[in-house]
Amino acid sequence: MTTIRPVLHHVTMRTSRVSEMVNWYSTVLGAHVMFRNERAAWMTNDEANHRVAFLSAPDITDDPQKHSHNAMHHSAFEYDSFGDLMESYKRLKDEKIEPSFCLDHQMTFSLYYKDPEGNYVELQTDGSYDWKKSGAFMSTPAFAANPVGIFFDPDKVYEAHRSGMDFDAVRDLVRSGAFAPQHTPSIGLGA
Ligand SMILES: [Fe+2]
Repeated sequence: MTTIRPVLHHVTMRTSRVSEMVNWYSTVLGAHVMFRNERAAWMTNDEANHRVAFLSAPDITDDPQKHSHNAMHHSAFEYDSFGDLMESYKRLKDEKIEPSFCLDHQMTFSLYYKDPEGNYVELQTDGSYDWKKSGAFMSTPAFAANPVGIFFDPDKVYEAHRSGMDFDAVRDLVRSGAFAPQHTPSIGLGA
């Protein structure tokens, strides 16, 4: 029988900070609340009835070893362009929200933010502005040689963007190491 494939719709998190999470996801994603009560909230930033949701209960607590325990690593949201990603980087920086680490994965160009409970949210733009091309890149030896990608300093990349440099030129410099961060950041995998 043919497999009828469903489309990815939403992510729901257990939390003990519903209000903080609502505020953060509202700021970061431009999401708004579709329904909430004292223990839960459902939000969306597009036409879907919800894209992220939060459920709480009195006995839910933080996991101090979250990044070395089995769990989801991140959710991801895509912009149409490098320009939109960079403008959003600046908007969030002005709100004192900065990425934990940034990677040029080549199939995507990505900024990873940590929400109030340490869940990562990846803000990205497609590396080719074309899902078919970026998907095909994943079958190349270049991707196999470095599937994680190349770290970059978002301030350096933002300044290059602001000075008028285009996406391809920025990425050439990322690959050359010109925009490398001072220290290699943690990507939240293990202790
Ligand atoms: Fe990702």
